[in-house]
Amino acid sequence: MADRFVDPFFPNRPVDDPQRFSGRKDQVEAIIDAIYQIKNNNPIHTIITGDRGIGKSSLLLQTKLVAEGDNVLPEKFGIDIGVPRYDFLVGWHDVDAGQGPAHISTGLMHNFQSLFGRLLKNVKLEISLGTFIKIAKKESVEQTVSELVTIFCEDAAKLSRVAYDNKKDGVLFFIDELDRADAESGIATFFKLVAERLPRMKVNNVAFICAGITGAIQKLEVEHASIARTFKDVPIPRLTEGETEEIIKDGFDKVGRTYNNRIPVLTYRLSSGFPEPVHLLGSEMLKVDTDGYVDETDFTEAKERIVTIVRRNKLSMLLKQSGSGKYQHIVLAMAEYDGTNVPLSFISSQIGQTQNQYSTNMSALVERGIIFRLDIGIYAFVDPLLKEYIQKFGIISAKSEED
Ligand SMILES: Nc1ncnc2c1ncn2[C@@H]1O[C@H](COP(=O)(O)OP(=O)(O)OP(=O)(O)O)[C@@H](O)[C@H]1O
Ligand SMILES: [Mg+2]
Repeated sequence: MADRFVDPFFPNRPVDDPQRFSGRKDQVEAIIDAIYQIKNNNPIHTIITGDRGIGKSSLLLQTKLVAEGDNVLPEKFGIDIGVPRYDFLVGWHDVDAGQGPAHISTGLMHNFQSLFGRLLKNVKLEISLGTFIKIAKKESVEQTVSELVTIFCEDAAKLSRVAYDNKKDGVLFFIDELDRADAESGIATFFKLVAERLPRMKVNNVAFICAGITGAIQKLEVEHASIARTFKDVPIPRLTEGETEEIIKDGFDKVGRTYNNRIPVLTYRLSSGFPEPVHLLGSEMLKVDTDGYVDETDFTEAKERIVTIVRRNKLSMLLKQSGSGKYQHIVLAMAEYDGTNVPLSFISSQIGQTQNQYSTNMSALVERGIIFRLDIGIYAFVDPLLKEYIQKFGIISAKSEED
């Protein structure tokens, strides 16, 4: 058995070390520009969007580091940040399922209170549990939101003043997992009204920086189609092959392993541009490697372990959530395709139906988060490992459903 070592891969948490943050240079550049604008009293609200697991929280966290004066990431990318370093007052809230603007405001203000207690000792923030309960009792969403906006903006103005008095750059509200917010809660209206109100109050060094899953964020917009107008969208793309290799190489370097030059491309194909499976594969390859040189056998064994042990429950649940009958035949057809991006023509020939006979099933699979549409007539699995799982274990047949 190999010596014990600290796993250099972290499939279960966002990247905190800027040195381990791979790719996304344009997105980092875009957000730093937003921060620069805010510091210079031109508030720009930003939302980082992308698929599940693409790296939204990681980018949000890296942005927070830069806003608090850590320049490692911009230096690594050679990005000019426009000042020697930033020094913002920052608060953070992770949205929980079903929360709305009242929870989010309370969460943010509590966070400021606990982080900056000393700076805020002579400041009374208006948002408290009391206001929250009072507001929660209000009849209509409209009334709730408009009252909340008033209180929130008063608090934001106070924080802005504290920032100014203490020679800080301004105030940033970080909100992660915005996609989990309740679409009916008035959330989109809340952001729109706050974004309009603050400049009227001459509070211009305060802004939101949020993150959320693309599709769900689009749903929040139904309300007034306002999220898109309030926020500057920073979409996160898939990783390139080179960026995928960087994650693998950095990790292996850290523990002194070398690798066969096929490993990065195999990892890239299996992870289809998502960073999470890259970390997972990296971690498992290190576990199975015994001679300090990671080769294709280690890769295959790692993949097997993931599909049959590490992620088996999650993947089996995904397959169930696909639906029964025709749905299973469609995902099987997709798993049988030799490549990640499956054309409808291939599915048609496999299941023996014309495209319009199963187009509603395709929409439902997209809706259920199983597949996504890459282009007209081209689909791929959201979780690239589901394909491997189906190849290994097959689909849920009508027979085994009865069992
Ligand atoms: N730029 C990156 N370089 C290296 N690893 C990354 C990068 N971005 C994300 N990761 C890794 O990918 C995984 C998923 O990242 P993260 O949690 O940031 O994604 P997310 O989009 O917020 O996911 P979710 O949709 O579940 O909230 C984590 O293991 C993280 O460490
Ligand atoms: Mg996240």
